[in-house]
Amino acid sequence: MTSDNGTSTETQYIWHHLTQHQGYHPLIIERGEGAMVYTADGREFLDAAAGLWCVNVGYGRTELVEAAMKQMAALPFYPLVQSHPAAIALGERLGELLPKVPHFYFSNSGSEANETAFKIVRQYFKQTGKPSKVKIISRHRAYHGSTLGALSATGQPERRRDYEPLAPGFIQVSAPYCYRCPFGLDHAQAPYQCALDFERRIQMEGPDTVAAIIVEPITAGGGVLVAPDDYLAQVAEIARRYDVKLIIDEVVTGFGRTGDMFAHQGYDVTPDIVTMAKGLASGYMPIGATAVSDEIFKAFLGDIDSGRHFRQVNTYGGHPVAAAVALANIDIIERENLSQQSRSQGARLLRNLGQALSDVEVVGDIRGRGLLVGIELVEDRQSKKPVSNNVMRALARYMLENHIIAGKATDVEAHHNNILIFAPPLILSDEQSDRLVDTVTRGIRHVQSQIQTV
Ligand SMILES: Cc1ncc(COP(=O)(O)O)c(C=O)c1O
Repeated sequence: MTSDNGTSTETQYIWHHLTQHQGYHPLIIERGEGAMVYTADGREFLDAAAGLWCVNVGYGRTELVEAAMKQMAALPFYPLVQSHPAAIALGERLGELLPKVPHFYFSNSGSEANETAFKIVRQYFKQTGKPSKVKIISRHRAYHGSTLGALSATGQPERRRDYEPLAPGFIQVSAPYCYRCPFGLDHAQAPYQCALDFERRIQMEGPDTVAAIIVEPITAGGGVLVAPDDYLAQVAEIARRYDVKLIIDEVVTGFGRTGDMFAHQGYDVTPDIVTMAKGLASGYMPIGATAVSDEIFKAFLGDIDSGRHFRQVNTYGGHPVAAAVALANIDIIERENLSQQSRSQGARLLRNLGQALSDVEVVGDIRGRGLLVGIELVEDRQSKKPVSNNVMRALARYMLENHIIAGKATDVEAHHNNILIFAPPLILSDEQSDRLVDTVTRGIRHVQSQIQTV
């Protein structure tokens, strides 16, 4: 049914994300089990997007429900102006997982975790005698969140377009996008020009003005950009040489998504700050965290009148129920070896996609790590011209018609959102993975015939 203003009854009251409401009929998801979700009218879908790339342990985990109920009964809320056992236990557990950044500021989302990181590095430099170090450098195609600071660090012109002016002091450099090397190189060779781009920019701006670099270990929403293995270490070394703090955004890549508990742990780097959200509680509760090194934490110590404390309150940050659920979620990820599962299922998925799609002309590139996989579609392999947003929408529609929910790059760059993305729950079975390969292969052949008849 459609109302007077063109919206459907499903969308009249709810302002949906990233979506034109007119004529839109969203799926109404009522429940989930494992990697599957079910609509109110009884249809079943394989959720190859794990909600929004966050339900890492899959749906229907009663253990998490019980952890929430127990905590809710004992203490439904208390802010971290004081403390409570759930946050203490979660902090301790995260500290074991991230011994180099063992101090945690809790919030509710990835955007807030990144905002917090930017504020912490700026205040850190003010308190350590370098007050002019304020700029934050990120990369093209990166996504760091929806709030104005995090959006200012986001390197996606289409996402930023209508919200300018954004915050000053945020700068983007080249992404490690090997399939379309921004430097026109046809094979990756160290030292990488895209890593050196950080150094050139730091020198250009003046090292005494740059506070931090922020990177996703694998650019997720920007199109699953997997850098060469030693790229991140080069970026970290450049940051260290110029006394620039390295913030690693693990909002998508954390908690087993790419085959390690945290993706940066697979690359020989020591971050100053790590941000996380999504997989921290597998989306069962909203929670984010900003983890900082001892060195940064200590710069905030001082007597009560020193003014060196972090001047930020977050009402729900470290919410007891969210913290209890996060802790139980980490138990599941570790007990069931889900990082390893993600690594092996991801390798299998990549291999099978490669085989199934090798002769399909519109498949330009297939890439990923663990269960974060992207398929880049082009009009032909020679020109590498990205397929249109319409083609991507047709493919997503085909997948939905065949009962699979997939993600895709959306509103990244004009005419360059041509990457289909899979980030299913880490418990994906062989059979579900095969179904995914089979359906996407048919879907891509289907849209290929559309492209070729245009
Ligand atoms: C890499 C990355 N950082 C930050 C965010 C923002 O997280 P949230 O939507 O929880 O604010 C996202 C969200 O998708 C993300 O992909």
